[in-house]
Amino acid sequence: MLQVNRRIKDIVGSTTLAITARAKELQAQGHDVVNFAAGEPDFDTPDFIKQAAIRAIDKGETKYTPSIGTVDLREAIAAKFQKDNGLAYKTNQIVVSCGAKHSLFNIIQVLVDDGDEVVFQAPYWVSYPEMVRAAGGKSVVIPTDASSGFKITPELLKRHITPKTKILIINSPSNPTGVMYQKEELAGIAAVCVQHNIYVISDEIYEKLIYDTDVFTSIASLGKDIFDLTLTVNGVSKAYAMTGWRIGYAAGPAGIMEVIKKYQDHSTSNPASISQAAALEALKASQESINQMCQTFKKRRDLMLRCLDGVPRLSYIRPQGAFYVFCDFSKAGDAASIARQMLDDIKVAGIPGDGFGAPDYIRFSFATSEARIQEGISRVAKWIANQAQLKV
Ligand SMILES: Cc1ncc(COP(=O)(O)O)c(C=O)c1O
Repeated sequence: MLQVNRRIKDIVGSTTLAITARAKELQAQGHDVVNFAAGEPDFDTPDFIKQAAIRAIDKGETKYTPSIGTVDLREAIAAKFQKDNGLAYKTNQIVVSCGAKHSLFNIIQVLVDDGDEVVFQAPYWVSYPEMVRAAGGKSVVIPTDASSGFKITPELLKRHITPKTKILIINSPSNPTGVMYQKEELAGIAAVCVQHNIYVISDEIYEKLIYDTDVFTSIASLGKDIFDLTLTVNGVSKAYAMTGWRIGYAAGPAGIMEVIKKYQDHSTSNPASISQAAALEALKASQESINQMCQTFKKRRDLMLRCLDGVPRLSYIRPQGAFYVFCDFSKAGDAASIARQMLDDIKVAGIPGDGFGAPDYIRFSFATSEARIQEGISRVAKWIANQAQLKV
């Protein structure tokens, strides 16, 4: 028997990988696969960002940096928080890590003790429960559904709080639903967290990809009490099409960030120096590339929704952000087997919802061209109509 650490041995592998691997296999065999599985922008990193990285190499910025990131980058992040989110973080309250995933992992490792409860809603991002498990904590999942717009309310949150509740994780806009919390909704949730002295991890990685409004609210901006309890997480992966560069960051109370620094000192040390130079350029230069990407994603979202409206038996909640449509397949059959069958029969890859805590759903990503969106959803529509005929 493998002698693996008891907290780590039950970690579940990423469900997205199985479908993605099968899609790649089919593609390699020459099949015309429509890939709605992607969890990253299909755009290339903007050229001016790449050039900054090349300059960094040429200038010899190829050595260790402070483990929590260069001062320049942390200053740029502090300025971004102030400008975009109204958050006054000092540079000693910011830690740059190897992607927002790493920032989240660090925070959970540092805050969670054996048996501590971490509350978050389903549908959730696949990594939250596994990170909590790895830290020896217990995930307390608040179920939400389409009828509540996939949102928790203060009342729902209160019902899931126990003396062991340590953290609430909020992810807005959400992966996988694309749902975004409004300021008033966050204020209600913040009040409960303050009342019960619960930390909040605010995963804001999709902040820049929002479609129906310009207004994004960071929960930490809603007053000093909640600011002092919140760890705000963001990064450059999604906003600047930089998923491979691995730069994310977290900001929060100085005492906690100091412990996170020590933890990172002895694990990864600094994220790649060249990626930090690229992220610095991304944050400091004109934000026009973000606006263009966002406009393109909005057009694609609207197209995917129009196409899905023509598919019988499917429903969805309109995503206000991120680049996913979370589709309810419960009227069409078992979503997990449908996702597998669709890939084999019509070569359309979507991610089954069970890994997100929503087994009736399949996540379709619109991080692909308009032509592929039309092609993919029309294949799905025909397939579902055929399946329905086969059943009668
Ligand atoms: C909700 C959410 N949080 C965090 C991340 C991690 O992003 P990064 O690539 O910066 O690690 C992702 C990536 O898919 C995500 O969807």
